[in-house]
Amino acid sequence: MNIILLGPPGAGKGTQAKMLIEKYGIPQISTGDMLRAAVKAGTQLGLEAKKYMDKGELVPDEVVIGLVKERLQEPDCEKGFMLDGFPRTVAQAEVLDRELEAMGKSIDHVICIEVPNEELIARLTGRRTCKECGAGYHLKFDPPKVDNVCDKCGGELYQRDDDNEETVKARLKVYQEQTFPLIEYYDKQGKLRRIDGVGEIKTIFERITKVLG
Ligand code: AP5
Ligand code: MG
Ligand code: ZN
Repeated sequence: MNIILLGPPGAGKGTQAKMLIEKYGIPQISTGDMLRAAVKAGTQLGLEAKKYMDKGELVPDEVVIGLVKERLQEPDCEKGFMLDGFPRTVAQAEVLDRELEAMGKSIDHVICIEVPNEELIARLTGRRTCKECGAGYHLKFDPPKVDNVCDKCGGELYQRDDDNEETVKARLKVYQEQTFPLIEYYDKQGKLRRIDGVGEIKTIFERITKVLG
């Protein structure tokens, strides 16, 4: 099963992806996570990407496309994959369609998680992530059992550099202008599945698995 998780910053793509990959046994491909790993490693690509990420802007298409193309060739993608945060522009979606076609593959479902802006701002400014295993938390909506400590691995939690209110607002604007058009793009292909993203995390999971089967 080849799936795209689409939705604004804070919609719950990462949260749901972590649960869905367990259920379906396919890898999560998060371009945001890949870029943050490159920033942490201090590679040339990471240094370049950081300039855009800190402002809440999109990293240039050719950079992200290169990362995803390589990742899709990995053997663990043979039984399927879950793209989280890619594609984010129509240009990225068109290249993805062409690449998959060349590989004899295609996207099965585009899950679009819909959440109103006020809720997105609250979710992002309260998000915490584990430094060690990447598990996601929220100070109010999904707190760890012990302050600042990951339930799963005991790692320390941190706040993403781009989760301050000013950058969050820039990211929401970028989503509206550059990513929102993908909804129509995939609707025309008959692949769009809209999911109401407001409610408990496990309720949203049930809504998605109902669609995916
Ligand atoms: P990326 O890392 O992809 O960030 P994003 O799309 O802005 O999305 P987020 O990861 O912020 O949100 P999410 O939907 O995963 O929410 P989460 O599940 O964590 O991208 C970062 C940057 O990298 C971009 O700005 C760009 O610069 C660059 N980039 C990445 N991909 C790119 C691409 N393709 N092209 C160009 N540039 C690219 O949940 C958020 C919070 O809410 C958590 O605290 C969670 O606990 C909580 N929560 C989740 N579900 C619920 C719920 N149901 N109720 C209450 N709280 C909830
Ligand atoms: Mg995410
Ligand atoms: Zn952890």
